[in-house]
Amino acid sequence: MKLELRCATRSQWLDAVRGDFGRFLQDHAACEAKASAMAIHIAKHYPDKIDIVEAMTELAVEELAHFRDVVRRLHAEALTLAPDTPDAYVNALLSHMRRGREPFMLDRLLIAAIVEARGHERFALLARALDEGESKRFYESISRSEARHYQLFLDLALAHFDTSEVGARLDELLRIEADIVNALPNRAALH
Ligand SMILES: [Fe+2]
Ligand SMILES: [Fe+2]
Repeated sequence: MKLELRCATRSQWLDAVRGDFGRFLQDHAACEAKASAMAIHIAKHYPDKIDIVEAMTELAVEELAHFRDVVRRLHAEALTLAPDTPDAYVNALLSHMRRGREPFMLDRLLIAAIVEARGHERFALLARALDEGESKRFYESISRSEARHYQLFLDLALAHFDTSEVGARLDELLRIEADIVNALPNRAALH
């Protein structure tokens, strides 16, 4: 099964990011830290699902390495970590999580897959816009990681739920995500 976002990020997003790259880096660092924490949280929530625990502990380490890499870039620019700000995009998506152990688990995996897919799309856009050099290569590699991550979450969903159920809910959530993206202002931030 493939995951295809229903709307492309607008060029104004890239303008906002390039207009205040330091702020974007601070937000990017926060996103990587949250991604690592979320992976640990999911692992601890499903101790009996061995495949999920193993995948999430691996992912937590990888996201933490991304966090370290972005912190290094921040410090190289003489910037520091900034306090977390609410992520309206992620919060809007999470508000669509259904209750009940099974639906909750499917929604959590699919929302994570969609967030990773949007990260993949945006980091690739950014990498394409940057001049040849270390920063461009860094964002190309981050974008490739996010592509692997969305596939990982999708594969976990397919390992635990019927294909038709996954496909139907993914379709709904992708439509919801497109509406959320289109309604949000463009900021110097990942979302
Ligand atoms: Fe990451
Ligand atoms: Fe990721």
